[in-house]
Amino acid sequence: MRRRDFVQGSLAVAAHAALQMPAANAAAPPRQIPYGSAVRGDALVDDPAYRTALADYCQLVVPEGGLKWDTVRPSEDRFDFYEGDKLLAFAEQNGMKMRGHTLIWYAAMPDWTSSIRGGKAAEKALTKHIRTVVGQYKGRVPSWDVINEAIAEDPRGSDYLRPNLWLENMGKGYIESAFRQAAEADPKVQLVINEYDIECVGEQFKNRRNALLRVVRDLRDRDAPIHAVGFQGHLKGEHEIDKEGVSSFVAELKAMNVDVLVTELDVIDKFLPSDEKQRDDVIAGRVTDLLQAISDANRPTAILTWGISDRYTWVPMYFTRDDGSPNRPLPLDRDYKVKPLMKVIDRFTARV
Ligand code: G3I
Repeated sequence: MRRRDFVQGSLAVAAHAALQMPAANAAAPPRQIPYGSAVRGDALVDDPAYRTALADYCQLVVPEGGLKWDTVRPSEDRFDFYEGDKLLAFAEQNGMKMRGHTLIWYAAMPDWTSSIRGGKAAEKALTKHIRTVVGQYKGRVPSWDVINEAIAEDPRGSDYLRPNLWLENMGKGYIESAFRQAAEADPKVQLVINEYDIECVGEQFKNRRNALLRVVRDLRDRDAPIHAVGFQGHLKGEHEIDKEGVSSFVAELKAMNVDVLVTELDVIDKFLPSDEKQRDDVIAGRVTDLLQAISDANRPTAILTWGISDRYTWVPMYFTRDDGSPNRPLPLDRDYKVKPLMKVIDRFTARV
């Protein structure tokens, strides 16, 4: 076995083992694959039912915004870990693990970062951020979204990467640098490249999967420490899952010793039927197709939804329904009642 694969394998196993920690809540038997949810810091403090739901169903949590640049970096020389520390405390009190999201992204950047100019300055800013933030949680956060949404919206030929501060100043090498800095800061953590719109039937979805494979292959050829691809899984309910396309994508990653996980699962129901039962059934069907397509090629290391209750979801920010009814993208409804989507998650996480 080549050194690279041995090292890669043992690190990924260590990270995988860390993610397998069963929740302390005896009521819910431990899942074979950890399930988790994105968490809003304000609701965590203000809503006891929200805390109970997270503790009852989750083995993992991830801050929806608490570890993004616009929260952590009020200025160039300050780091604010209040939100990250708060969620980690909740997680550890409830026998859960916390994932990190996200180290490098084009969005949620504070205004001062627009003054970062040139390759040296960008490399310095990237290194300082990643070393400090990953270092803050070394040994306590088993998995990080290192790079988020690096692929162009509609990749064509050589234009397959999304323009952003990092690409403009450092070139495509920013991606490798980010992974290497994260691995230096915590050699045991699962390092993830996270992407959206790689799940469904259609030319653009296929182009995005192929562009992401190109990035991963390039990183592996350079022995860069990338361990997994995150399917964000923000599914649009009207789009069919490309089961064949997803399974072969996951199989190609597995052949490169790269795992997969689902990081931000929800189903955008803007164009789904008004009838709630019909809508919930379509949503459960889409998620079944996605999780089956992934699982047919490799076992995901975790499945997380981008929120646990319809009470707190980003979806209406952009996708309110014409009939005015509330969106229903998540596993629990606004009153924390179980929906068919949670049953699908139970099945695929092999809840005993
Ligand atoms: O906290 C402020 C509040 O003080 C202010 O009054 C309010 C009005 O401007 O804004 C609040 O901040 C908002 C924040 O969510 C907290 O609710 C930001 O404006 C808003 O941009 C931010 O949106 C988040 C978005 O990422 C950008 O960070 C969404 O909640 C979050 O669900 C979304 O999550 C992303 C993932 O990180 C990456 N994948 C896609 C996913 C959905 O867009």
